[in-house]
Amino acid sequence: MAIASLIAGNWKMFKGPAEATSFVSALSPAVAAAANELDVVVCPPPVSLGAALQAGAANVQVFAQNVHWAEAGAFTGEVSVSMLVELGVAGTLVGHSERRQLFGETDETTAARMVAARAGGLQVIACVGELEAEREAGETEAVLERQVGALADAADDLDGLVVAYEPVWAIGTGRVATVEQAQEAHAVVRRILPVPVLYGGSVKPDNAHELLGMPDVDGALVGGASLDVASFAAVCAAGARSS
Ligand code: PGA
Repeated sequence: MAIASLIAGNWKMFKGPAEATSFVSALSPAVAAAANELDVVVCPPPVSLGAALQAGAANVQVFAQNVHWAEAGAFTGEVSVSMLVELGVAGTLVGHSERRQLFGETDETTAARMVAARAGGLQVIACVGELEAEREAGETEAVLERQVGALADAADDLDGLVVAYEPVWAIGTGRVATVEQAQEAHAVVRRILPVPVLYGGSVKPDNAHELLGMPDVDGALVGGASLDVASFAAVCAAGARSS
């Protein structure tokens, strides 16, 4: 039995179309065994979605990193659900902490993106997580309740929805939540929204098995370690390994 159900690689603003094609072509055989047991997902930047899909890897799903809530309109720089669906994209991230911190994404816009994506048939990985200052101030639970509460209030239906708990202080820093911190946070998320919960924040091949072995961790959202075929395949293998 696999210990995870979904491992997603968030490429952020890395890999153009040519690199996306070669990466997915190389990843597909490297995750052949793991993909029998769990869902393997890559999230390329928008210009590389088509190339990642055209690589034709049946065992690697392609998700976007973001999507707008409107069907069409004067929203420079945004992409709609139907555009992603037309391309063949299977799902999308919403509310990643970099969107929240650097691009003004809020609980409300995150929820609006989630609702539109689900209505259009896209799977959704909605990202939540506290800042370091919020954790130090003892506000982690309140922050998660607010962020996840906004998703729960907006969601009509929990099908196709996954939450990624990513403590912001663990993203790209090499610092990882302890088993207790992750367990506690995942329990808060699941109390409000009973959906699969991924852990994200400095997941690497050498810590993936321990993180993914936690009872309330259903998978991982991987940034840096998803940019290299061997390391992403190793994280996927860790998730597929029997506990
Ligand atoms: P990281 O990023 O694995 O590089 O910490 C995770 C994320 O931002 O989703």
